[in-house]
Amino acid sequence: TTPQLLAGKRVVITAGPTVEAIDPVRYLSNHSSGKMGFALARACVAAGADVVLIAGGKVALPTPLNVTRIDVLSAEDMLIAAQQCVDGTHSELQLVFEDEHDHFHDHTHGHSHNHSHSEEHYHGDCGCGDDDVSDHDHNDLLHSHDDNQFVKADIFIATAAVADYRTEEAAPQKIKKTQDAMTLSLVKNPDILATISLAHSELFVVGFAAETQDVERYARGKLVAKDLDMIACNDVSRADIGFASDDNAMQVFFSERYERDAVTLEKTSKDKIAEQLASIIGQAIGQ
Ligand code: C5P
Repeated sequence: TTPQLLAGKRVVITAGPTVEAIDPVRYLSNHSSGKMGFALARACVAAGADVVLIAGGKVALPTPLNVTRIDVLSAEDMLIAAQQCVDGTHSELQLVFEDEHDHFHDHTHGHSHNHSHSEEHYHGDCGCGDDDVSDHDHNDLLHSHDDNQFVKADIFIATAAVADYRTEEAAPQKIKKTQDAMTLSLVKNPDILATISLAHSELFVVGFAAETQDVERYARGKLVAKDLDMIACNDVSRADIGFASDDNAMQVFFSERYERDAVTLEKTSKDKIAEQLASIIGQAIGQ
């Protein structure tokens, strides 16, 4: 049995790519699979945590058992979801987004709910990961979310491969190929990890970094710049680990607050790496 180092802890994890709309049928994204974040969600549950997993883009992985999953597409929506989950202000199963992007939420369940907030738009996914779920099961899930309302997170783990840029404005209609050349105007996306971390000093915040050189120097730079407690880095110049691979190898660095030496996790499955990371986090918060 796994030591319950995260018993009673509430963990919010971001995973997968983000999808940034160009027009109603096209988008910018990346090849992130979401495997590391999903493996971490499983490992944190095994260590006794209560886990909310925010999956970006179109992650095609089954929802781990006993994990609350919220599907979003863009970085902006992921930030809103993360803020609400970390603050415990996500009401029932649905998150509040400012804009309606209905055509992109093709994988939501499309259940309608009788809300008092009738002016607002509700998106997101209950995370049951099962499109055939009956309304009865769905309602049970709603209640469990009600019970969890206003419970703040203890730990935030950002594994998502957030698009650095998004289109300045998504075209409302499909763009026609009438021109020989076209230019997309891009603007920077918010840094979800830094935004959450800098706004929540009590939260234990874990970042990930993919580097091709000077892993330690860049990782320590991000620890400080984003005010993280811990950062896990992999060397993406190695073809055998990271991204879509089932394997990973990592170096873990801690904020100076913890007086802990760096840890090297040898190449193994993402599931094993996730178990090791969950116990490293458990030890660090127990310090
Ligand atoms: O700065 P860099 O993209 O290398 O940082 C990687 C870390 O920051 C990862 O933990 C990633 O999930 C997070 N991140 C984020 N929002 C962004 C960019 C990165 O949460 N816009």
